[in-house]
Amino acid sequence: MVQATPFLLVLFLALGAHGLSVKKCSLTGRWVNDLGSNMTITTVNANGVFAGSYHTAVTATTNEIKVSPLQGCMQKSPNQKGQPTFGFTVNWTFSDSITVFTGQCFVDDDGKEVLKTMWLLRSRVENIKNDWKATRVGTNVFTRLPSQE
Ligand code: BTN
Repeated sequence: MVQATPFLLVLFLALGAHGLSVKKCSLTGRWVNDLGSNMTITTVNANGVFAGSYHTAVTATTNEIKVSPLQGCMQKSPNQKGQPTFGFTVNWTFSDSITVFTGQCFVDDDGKEVLKTMWLLRSRVENIKNDWKATRVGTNVFTRLPSQE
């Protein structure tokens, strides 16, 4: 028992230090995805509610692309372990469409933050008969852009 005490102490300290050094994924900042779209998340409040802007690189319309606002929410449960799940909506200012994203903020094996997302893009259609073709689905992977300070 006497010999076990220092061993347990070292183990406890090692596990504690590991827990402290694990990098957390933060949503705040500038991101680029695999399509070349840029997203900025400006604020994440204490409840996990966030806002920002989205500059898409592509559009399903013929309209001129404009930077559009996004609003979202990050899970704040204690089980998230620094890699939180989240969802956000982009309300496109240059089209009649709306996109919802859902995803998780990961720290990869190289310590880089990455957002793995899935999205649904809902376009407006003229009548209910065209509803079947109104929703596109896809995935996007976002990586962090350097902050502009
Ligand atoms: C529209 O075309 O009506 C609005 C722009 C939609 C852009 C989509 S949203 C999902 C995908 N990911 C992007 O970064 N851009 C496209």
